[in-house]
Amino acid sequence: MNKKSNNWQPDTWQQKTCLQMPKYNNKEQLDEILNFLQNMPPLVFAGESRTLKEHLANAGAGNAFILQGGDCAESFAEFHPKNIRDTFRLILQMAVILTFAARMPVIKIGRMAGQFAKPRSDDNESKNGICLPSYRGDIINSLEFDKDARKPDPNRILQAYNQATSTLNLLRSFSRGGYADLHRVKQWILDFAADSPEGEKYLDIAKRIEHALAFLTAVGVDMSSSNIVKETDFFTSHEALLLPYEQALTRTDSTTGDWYDVSAHFLWIGDRTRQVDGAHVEFLRGIKNPIGIKCGPTISKDELLKLLDILNPENDAGRITLITRFGAGNVEKHLPKLVEAVNKEDRIVTWISDPMHGNTVKSSSGYKTRKFTDIMQELKEFFQIMRASGGIPAGIHLEMTGQNVTECTGGADKITDKDLSLRYHTHCDPRLNARQSIELAFQVAEAIKK
Ligand code: PEP
Ligand code: CO
Repeated sequence: MNKKSNNWQPDTWQQKTCLQMPKYNNKEQLDEILNFLQNMPPLVFAGESRTLKEHLANAGAGNAFILQGGDCAESFAEFHPKNIRDTFRLILQMAVILTFAARMPVIKIGRMAGQFAKPRSDDNESKNGICLPSYRGDIINSLEFDKDARKPDPNRILQAYNQATSTLNLLRSFSRGGYADLHRVKQWILDFAADSPEGEKYLDIAKRIEHALAFLTAVGVDMSSSNIVKETDFFTSHEALLLPYEQALTRTDSTTGDWYDVSAHFLWIGDRTRQVDGAHVEFLRGIKNPIGIKCGPTISKDELLKLLDILNPENDAGRITLITRFGAGNVEKHLPKLVEAVNKEDRIVTWISDPMHGNTVKSSSGYKTRKFTDIMQELKEFFQIMRASGGIPAGIHLEMTGQNVTECTGGADKITDKDLSLRYHTHCDPRLNARQSIELAFQVAEAIKK
């Protein structure tokens, strides 16, 4: 039985203006694929999304910390079990560092198993006098600069669903099948990060955890029956951008009768598609998953309050995570008024920082990049200004990979503009590599302790 919620149905977004929508030429083929997808198994269960929502509410109240991270855009080309494993274990490592510092649970959410569709600033891209539609993520078209490759292809929707399914299958095995057992904390270190100062600092924490586990075993705590030590919770998330895909994966939960988007545990709305009367807000209004709202420099406090009215009319804790992304040096200008407005009206939200999307620059070598120092600067501003404004800094949202890429400059490896071409593999925005991510986690750990 479907609950009727304020004239909402999974397709009511279609009556609204939908920005960032690809123009499919073959509508019949698109419909056929979406109909097929409607009968495919869910990727996640509603009950899991409800659990995540409780965790997010905890974090919003200052009792847990959120680590959300992964690719800017997952791609068909980089799909490999090794890549999934390496990002997964990097998140585990960072979570250990943060748990140790914060002395509270770290909620792990991957930008994984569905993060395919990308919003673009321009509909078209020009190169050498040729103008083609922009790349919109592998679920829509191909990165290759070619007329046919850039045409939106409905078949890609199925390929993305299939890739998300097997990615999630592997993530579930990693988190439940023994890989994430805390007894293996030393083994999670990535080869190229082992012989570094951060690697040593990590091994120091790992040793202390081993001693603690050995002590507990010695005093008689039975570790073999403890899921807390042997398993971990890992959640998935992506931007709810390609609404036909999200609609096809929106189902009613048999337990509650509520609608859930079962493509991921957590969905967020991007900074370019958060118009209060737009299609994306309409879609997210009706699903019960916990959701995120990206808040960039252009959001006003009135707009934010209106979004909260529409997306969380019951002021439900854990339902809304506000993901701020203002850029280094801009937090003071934008954050306090939002936090004060939210607090004044007693709105319950969870605040986290995305220090990536406000800090993208073009390097002298032509690559899109981000400076490690800018990323850290925004995070430090976020912690400090959030606290000074009466809010709780509850987590971080990163574009990162377990691979040894050269996409962001700086960090302990001192990656320069000239190095970017060495291993620049991202399909969209530049990601922190494993060493940079670990280094960041240690610095965030310090900021949490303050
Ligand atoms: C993203 O998270 O990849 C993204 C496009 O972010 P934003 O909507 O904040 O620009
Ligand atoms: Co991005």
